[in-house]
Amino acid sequence: MSASQTALFRRLFDLTGKRALITGASSGIGAHLARTLGQAGANVVLAARSQGTLERYCAQLRSEQIGTEIAVMDVTDPGSVQAAAEAVGAVDILINNSGVSEQRMLMETEEEDWDRVLDTNLKGAWRVSKAFAPGLVARQGCILNVASILGLGVLKTVGPYAASKAGLIQLTKAMALEMARDGVRVNALAPGYTETPINAAFFATPAGEKMIRGIPQRRLAQPEDLDAAVLGLVGPGARATTGAVFVVDGGHLLSLG
Ligand SMILES: NC(=O)c1ccc[n+]([C@@H]2O[C@H](COP(=O)([O-])OP(=O)(O)OC[C@H]3O[C@@H](n4cnc5c(N)ncnc54)[C@H](OP(=O)(O)O)[C@@H]3O)[C@@H](O)[C@H]2O)c1
Repeated sequence: MSASQTALFRRLFDLTGKRALITGASSGIGAHLARTLGQAGANVVLAARSQGTLERYCAQLRSEQIGTEIAVMDVTDPGSVQAAAEAVGAVDILINNSGVSEQRMLMETEEEDWDRVLDTNLKGAWRVSKAFAPGLVARQGCILNVASILGLGVLKTVGPYAASKAGLIQLTKAMALEMARDGVRVNALAPGYTETPINAAFFATPAGEKMIRGIPQRRLAQPEDLDAAVLGLVGPGARATTGAVFVVDGGHLLSLG
């Protein structure tokens, strides 16, 4: 790579010296993004509830020369989030990625399912952002909320999830508006269907294959397909980007209702 290419990549994506906390980093997209940020030079803090899984992945990333810590945190529990924020201290980048879904028609959805999805996906992102805000302000950092194309379009049987992700997109805009004066940028990533351990089996079934045929590109995204958008949004090249929603979905939103 030439010196000017190296300088360009550094100016846009270099996270050397930054500290990034990723919620939901015990699995899927969050685990993948932690490695990506680490490869871009950040020290990463892996947050989730599953301590054993976090410890094993932490050891793996350290063996890859990525500075890694863990923070056991339940984003639905204010005490757990506050304790983790105090233990971790300030970060430059917060990725609110923890998320759960529930596949059921709305009129068959139970109160506890609604509460679990909304509390994790929407209120959890606000709760974690609030707990880490003082450090983000001090470091002039940024937040990336992992939403979904189901926050922008809808399908049947994902009502609470779609409502939570639409709320998360509005939360992103509201936080961007309020935190701009403090020098904190807030953006959202809206992935389409992305192959992770949680859904790989479904996408191998006839129903899953049919869903893939409904995606204009006729393929599922892989977690690494999110890397360019994520590095672009949290990297130094995005200093003028706040309140944005970046869709990575193979064109799926274009064919959703
Ligand atoms: N995969 C897709 O097709 C897709 C598409 C669009 C958007 N997304 C979004 O991307 C994010 C990651 O999805 P994924 O596919 O990687 O799912 P996943 O493999 O099921 O991972 C979900 C993560 O969230 C964590 N989590 C769940 N509840 C939590 C809680 N109460 N407190 C803290 N952490 C919690 C889980 O860790 P613990 O269980 O260890 O706590 C896990 O690390 C989600 O927000 C999802 O909505 C995914």
